[in-house]
Amino acid sequence: MTDLDSFITGLPKAELHLHIEGSLEPELMFELAKRNGIDIPYASVEDVRAAYAFSNLQDFLDIYYAGANVLRTRQDFHDLAAAYFDRIAADGVVHAEIMFDPQTHTDRGIPFADVIEGLLSGMAEAEAKHGITSKLILSFLRHLSEEAAFDTLAMAEPWLDQIEAVGLDSSEVGHPPVKFAQVFEAAHAKGLKITAHAGEEGPPEYVYQALDLLHVDRIDHGNRSLEDPDLVARLAAMGMTLTVCPLSNLKLCVVDDLADHPVDRMLALGLKATVNSDDPAYFGGYIGDNFRAVAKARGLDREAIVTLARNSFTGSFLPPKAIAEHLEKLDAYVEAQG
Ligand code: ADE
Ligand code: ZN
Repeated sequence: MTDLDSFITGLPKAELHLHIEGSLEPELMFELAKRNGIDIPYASVEDVRAAYAFSNLQDFLDIYYAGANVLRTRQDFHDLAAAYFDRIAADGVVHAEIMFDPQTHTDRGIPFADVIEGLLSGMAEAEAKHGITSKLILSFLRHLSEEAAFDTLAMAEPWLDQIEAVGLDSSEVGHPPVKFAQVFEAAHAKGLKITAHAGEEGPPEYVYQALDLLHVDRIDHGNRSLEDPDLVARLAAMGMTLTVCPLSNLKLCVVDDLADHPVDRMLALGLKATVNSDDPAYFGGYIGDNFRAVAKARGLDREAIVTLARNSFTGSFLPPKAIAEHLEKLDAYVEAQG
């Protein structure tokens, strides 16, 4: 490990863009398949990893939804979340805002209660064991209908006080934010915060729609905003957080090479970028790996890395007092590192 690598590892940070189903490692996939008596189309863990070669978002989503089929019981969802938090404890993560895709499970007959209660118990365990705080983001699948999203929001009603925000994920192109304007309005009226994947594969127009029609508090990815200078100026002026995912962008061919990744260009343009893992089990790394890989590929200095970590706190859904406390600890770490 270089000095910069160990600086990154110890740097306090928050993860704001993580699909918990995307943290399902092949080893746990096999364990759950066995526990639940499910056949999976892979002979070994190596076989699973070999299948993780994607040329676009849809390629990945097909395998990701198939992988989620081993998740059946409350205990499975608990174990999935616990494994994620155990892993990120070693990456300096002190807070995480994690997305889950209820429709991926309820459409297979898994009760919403089992999904969310399992995740919540994994989150509570992580706070007790590692001191990592966390929040839940309920993501609607955009390849399904707005009516189905409304049904999901209704299912979530008994747990609304334990859900921080709603999000929008899955196949982007052909499923613009406008398709979900009403369900996001309903979610906002219930006091939920709003995020949406926009500008990962979709055009800048989808980012405008996320702003103007969904009234997002954060944009997930946002890469293609860079094609539109007016949009960049607007995002910068409003201090909109972009939850950027370097290794995901590489694996899904949003960028051809990490050496071309735009994260430092975003910072130079005044955009509030953060670094996140998206689906770490599928894209070859957790948040620390994402920081280290993009820092190396782009030659980021400490200042840029500290800005990215600061942005993860100021862009979080934590209350101002908690944000201020995290920033104090971050500053103390940076000072102690010299
Ligand atoms: N679901 C999980 N990961 C995703 C991504 N990167 N984009 C859209 N939907 C997703
Ligand atoms: Zn994502």
